[in-house]
Amino acid sequence: MKQPVRVVVTGAAGQISYSLLFRIAAGEMLGSDQPVILQMLEITPALEALKGVAMELDDCAFPLLHGMVITDDPNVAYKDADFALLVGARPRGPGMERKDLLEANAAIFSVQGKAINEHASRDIKVLVVGNPANTNALIAQRNAPDINPRQFTAMTRLDHNRALTQLAQKTGSSINDITKMTIWGNHSSTQYPDISKALISGEAAEPKVEQDWYRNEFIPVVQQRGAAIIKARGASSAASAANAAIFHMRDWALGTAEGDWASMGVYSDGSYGIAEGLIYSFPCVCKNGDWEIVQGLEISDFSSEKMKATETELAEERDAVAHLLP
Ligand code: NAD
Ligand code: LMR
Repeated sequence: MKQPVRVVVTGAAGQISYSLLFRIAAGEMLGSDQPVILQMLEITPALEALKGVAMELDDCAFPLLHGMVITDDPNVAYKDADFALLVGARPRGPGMERKDLLEANAAIFSVQGKAINEHASRDIKVLVVGNPANTNALIAQRNAPDINPRQFTAMTRLDHNRALTQLAQKTGSSINDITKMTIWGNHSSTQYPDISKALISGEAAEPKVEQDWYRNEFIPVVQQRGAAIIKARGASSAASAANAAIFHMRDWALGTAEGDWASMGVYSDGSYGIAEGLIYSFPCVCKNGDWEIVQGLEISDFSSEKMKATETELAEERDAVAHLLP
């Protein structure tokens, strides 16, 4: 049996975490041979509810759960942490864009970044889920100057999964047959879900659908799916968000499937002309616990325009939080 790893989950008494924690403890994120210690962070008023969640985790008798920490102090939560899922933040309500949360949530992520810098393992893998996820990841990263910026990522896997299902349903194919889906840019309504590189059973997907459907239905449906769920459910997505977080971390830690890639919000190195330092979603291949942006993809004028639009929004978000970026 491997040594246990320390996994931080923030917002641990919230609705996403209620789906997430149990799956991590069951081994779905890091594998059935990897014991975990859950280090759960909440704000003080939610600690009582978090104790209840911990009682339920106890009652599952998960063989891989080797310990739990419950705290309202980020300095305790991040101690020696190997993985961190930053979920704790306010969700949006009907009629809001995710960036409307910037003011409410941004400050949380500078605190998290500082605590990571001070206390976490130097190899920590960080996934930011709390919205606006890309810019919150940027804030955390910039507040952790001693950690490699490549270790801060933002979640666009939910968008990736949404895009897979829309394409599978449209073409009557199975999710298992689709590879090389891409989400470019921000986890927001400017994101660009791109099927131009996607394959269905090894054949190009784009010719199998009408351009009108692709441009006027598929793209807006994926871009607006979060809002559609808030409208239908009266609360933002939770189980599907937790599932995407599991998939993101699992691929990063254990590798993407052969012949496929994952969409991940990662530190831009200038690939595809995207401004260096933004946390931008690219197609990434993961291997040996590391990710690489897939290089050399041909970019059409249509794609280029869409990729630029979402980059512009991310640059605007970055500029709006300049006071939190040391
Ligand atoms: P929730 O309100 O149910 O839970 C959030 C929890 O965070 C609460 O329990 C709250 O007490 C806690 N919290 C607030 N400030 C904190 C802090 N400083 N430290 C630790 N904990 C803190 O919300 P939720 O539905 O679980 O959503 C959480 C976030 O995830 C929201 O911002 C939401 O918009 C976002 N989200 C992102 C994606 C994505 O794809 N990236 C998908 C779904 C939701
Ligand atoms: C989602 O995509 O479901 C989440 O980011 C929640 C939201 O605000 O849309």
